[in-house]
Amino acid sequence: MPAVRADKLYKIFGRRPGKAVDLLADGRHRDEIKHLNVTAAVIDVSFEVQPGEIFVVMGLSGSGKSTLIRMLNGLLPPTAGTVEVDGTDITALPKAGLRKLRSEKISMVFQHFALFPHRTVLDNAAYGLEVRGVAKDERHAKAREALALVGLEGWEAKVPGQLSGGMQQRVGLARALAADTDIILMDEAFSALDPLIRRDMQSQLLELQARLGKTIIFITHDLNEAMRLGDRICVLRDGRVAQIGTAEEILNDPANDYVAQFVEDVDRTRVLTASSVMEAPIPVIDPDKGPRAALRTMRDNQTVSAFVVRRNRQLVGAVREDVIGAAVRDNVKELDSLIDTDLARVHPDTPVADLFGQAAESPYPLAVVDDADRFVGVIPRVTLLAALAPTTGSDTGADSGTGAEPAADGGTAPAGAPPAAPPPDGPPAPEAAADTATDTAAEGSR
Ligand SMILES: Nc1ncnc2c1ncn2[C@@H]1O[C@H](COP(=O)(O)OP(=O)(O)OP(=O)(O)O)[C@@H](O)[C@H]1O
Ligand SMILES: [Mg+2]
Repeated sequence: MPAVRADKLYKIFGRRPGKAVDLLADGRHRDEIKHLNVTAAVIDVSFEVQPGEIFVVMGLSGSGKSTLIRMLNGLLPPTAGTVEVDGTDITALPKAGLRKLRSEKISMVFQHFALFPHRTVLDNAAYGLEVRGVAKDERHAKAREALALVGLEGWEAKVPGQLSGGMQQRVGLARALAADTDIILMDEAFSALDPLIRRDMQSQLLELQARLGKTIIFITHDLNEAMRLGDRICVLRDGRVAQIGTAEEILNDPANDYVAQFVEDVDRTRVLTASSVMEAPIPVIDPDKGPRAALRTMRDNQTVSAFVVRRNRQLVGAVREDVIGAAVRDNVKELDSLIDTDLARVHPDTPVADLFGQAAESPYPLAVVDDADRFVGVIPRVTLLAALAPTTGSDTGADSGTGAEPAADGGTAPAGAPPAAPPPDGPPAPEAAADTATDTAAEGSR
């Protein structure tokens, strides 16, 4: 029996949805029924998700992803069609039955974490059980276990604002795990995270899923993420299913031109972007420290060059060991004049294919800088070459990084290693992590 089954599901917002369903069932595009003053968010969607599967729903903004997922746990009633969870038609359940189903069978993880800012990490993780009326001792024990699973042991007494964004999202995940539901729905759960942390979370989710065998329905608009996580991927377009298949099937046998364009000449170097091959910058040098300290950092890390990064993660430039070494011998005290500021900077979304030219011309690894002008990773030339190597299946080869989070204080990145090193485990020190406190509306409290 499938864990979740959607059958000819429709969601039409606006009055007179019935007429709209008829026209859409006849094959009309949602733009053709605009005169009815309705928004057709989800149109004739059918699929089955097997127990233990990671089913990814992918589509552009407005394609109906969130509306669909909200119908799967009964937060939104469908206009037509049915949703079955473990064989039960939830569209026929009364309110109380729905609430029971939501608390016992399905958890949801949101993009903006939905944590309660004034509650401890422990109480946040225990929330789902609290709603279910589980006694304090028992729910705290389960929450502790779940927090340990996501690597947050020792953080139970903190409040969310004291945690980094990645750690807050792990609390959201721990809440879902503590509730111990078989099904977890995740709506753009990692989209608000920095790229390296995001990849780390993806790895952790895959690991947890392999261990716990949860059924996960994961929404994303990111092709890399979909390919990496999904056992199968459902591509939505304008409310309709464009294709359902494995990453391989979608790449090799796209159902129509739309999907084909989506995964255009994949060419892995096109699917893979800078953010999926970059590594944690190790080491980085604080511009306020002198040449002697810079030289020492490079020697300690056995590297001949290093990036100079401010505490707010702004990239200043790069320095070379030979230049700094000469300056130290000449007794130069300031680093400023020794920094090479003319660097190749690339955006995290730049396709790998577009990086080769720049990499060839640059004496340094490529620096990846995000929209907020923050230094988020580096791409050494060897990594680029490795990305070209043929791989199989849906493995995007995106695992070559260390998975390390760039040090928030710009100076103490863990001494990780070149490609293929295991990710350094455990959260960063509290003081380094407290910089990304967010407004955490309690979206999940419904
Ligand atoms: N409550 C609502 N009332 C009216 N229209 C809505 C409502 N919720 C969603 N819509 C519309 O339904 C369509 C699908 O929205 P939905 O939020 O499901 O898309 P999405 O794929 O999740 O997009 P995004 O990637 O931006 O989150 C959009 O046109 C949206 O404006
Ligand atoms: Mg959405």
